Amino acid sequence: MPDSLPTNSKIVAAYREHTPNSAARAKEAREVFPSGLVHDSRKLDPYAFYVDRAQGSHKWDIDGNEYVDYFGGHGALILGHNHPEVQKAAHAQLDKGTHFGACHELEVRWGALVKQLVPCAERVRFTSSGTEANLMGLRLARAFTGKPKVVRFLGHFHGWHDHAAFGVSNHFDGTASPGVLDGIAENVLLAPPDDIEATRRIFEAHDDIGAVILEPTGASFGQVPMTREFVAELRRITEERGVILIFDEVVTGFRVAPGGAQEFYGVTPDMCSLAKILAGGLPGGAITGREDILELLDFEVAEAKGFEKVQHQGTYNANPMSAAAGIAALELIAKGGVCDVASDKAATLRRLINEGFEAEDVPWACYGEHSGFYIFTNPKNLPITPTKFDALAQDRETMKGSRTDWLVTKLRLGIIVNGGDMNSKPGGVMSCVHTDEDLEKTADAVRSAVRMLKDEGDIAA
Ligand SMILES: Cc1ncc(COP(=O)(O)O)c(C=O)c1O
Repeated sequence: MPDSLPTNSKIVAAYREHTPNSAARAKEAREVFPSGLVHDSRKLDPYAFYVDRAQGSHKWDIDGNEYVDYFGGHGALILGHNHPEVQKAAHAQLDKGTHFGACHELEVRWGALVKQLVPCAERVRFTSSGTEANLMGLRLARAFTGKPKVVRFLGHFHGWHDHAAFGVSNHFDGTASPGVLDGIAENVLLAPPDDIEATRRIFEAHDDIGAVILEPTGASFGQVPMTREFVAELRRITEERGVILIFDEVVTGFRVAPGGAQEFYGVTPDMCSLAKILAGGLPGGAITGREDILELLDFEVAEAKGFEKVQHQGTYNANPMSAAAGIAALELIAKGGVCDVASDKAATLRRLINEGFEAEDVPWACYGEHSGFYIFTNPKNLPITPTKFDALAQDRETMKGSRTDWLVTKLRLGIIVNGGDMNSKPGGVMSCVHTDEDLEKTADAVRSAVRMLKDEGDIAA
């Protein structure tokens, strides 16, 4: 097996033929950006394709190709691209101004909607991204408890800030990745996910833990799933020990349920971070949670109680454009019928793709929960039945093991030339506007890609 993408592949050739304008643009981009990219997750060999426009569940590249889109704005677009009500609100705000450098009424309405929907949200502080929201969550937890250490779970992603930049896809031993201070890494303890005894032992061995943060449905929105029992037990242990429990609901918020994973599980954390759907497809994030913790940001309370306030600025916090789009999106989600519809459609897609794997006699599986899906390419060649695959029964290495495999890249390229766009896991997120026809077309695209791989001898015919 080659180490990298084979250059003589017919699939790669088909992709190149499909996307000549993108190839030219990618070449130019390499003169401007490292790797020609602005986001690590957009890496695709031999080059990424360039998108011109999008509508509903579809997007079109600069070569005129149409795709059923499962990137979904990196998870932000549960309502699909250009939902008319979100568009209307954003257009109206654009005409009124994009930044007032002042308080505005929309920020209050937006924050009130977060309070209304998210169980832990007694107080809200907007940020510009999910990364910033998590950074502030950890800072608040440290300031509140006076304890420096943070527990994270191996493979769980919390953005690119220094406390979260190792132990996700590398540096599983907890050492700092390039550019991160050892002092920060030393204050982050990495725990195996879904292992309550191991987590308990970490708490018992350290009396200076201020916070624990996790993706509540498991690493990468359930690519490595986690049990609700683990989450509930973690709540119990953290409560007992006075450790601040932070749910990273950047993806799960307003997606798993209108109130996020915490509503779905019936487990309320002390704080949670939000982003993506929160801002209706525009940039935005928030940290929200217990009033007694968020009041560390409060000028008057700090003065009255005599503590030093936690500092927080941010030019684009709750900017009017993001607020307008976010309000429109959250109002639609609050009415119901968005999260459930997207989840049902994802379940249908998983079933259709698995039926294709069974028909092709390929031991792979499409799995996932809620409105997410992943294709398990079975790096250890386990004997599995696609429609009966149990992701929870596998270990973390098995589930994340195929991530950078060139075979996955070829699978993605095969899906792209057949009209679908998925992320590198490979997998994606569903919106509530994907149609039955989209799902059928995607399952066919996956099956066609599998046949292309068989043709090249990459998997058994
Ligand atoms: C679970 C999770 N947390 C945090 C982040 C970081 O959010 P942002 O990209 O808005 O900084 C992401 C982004 O994908 C995420 O998936």
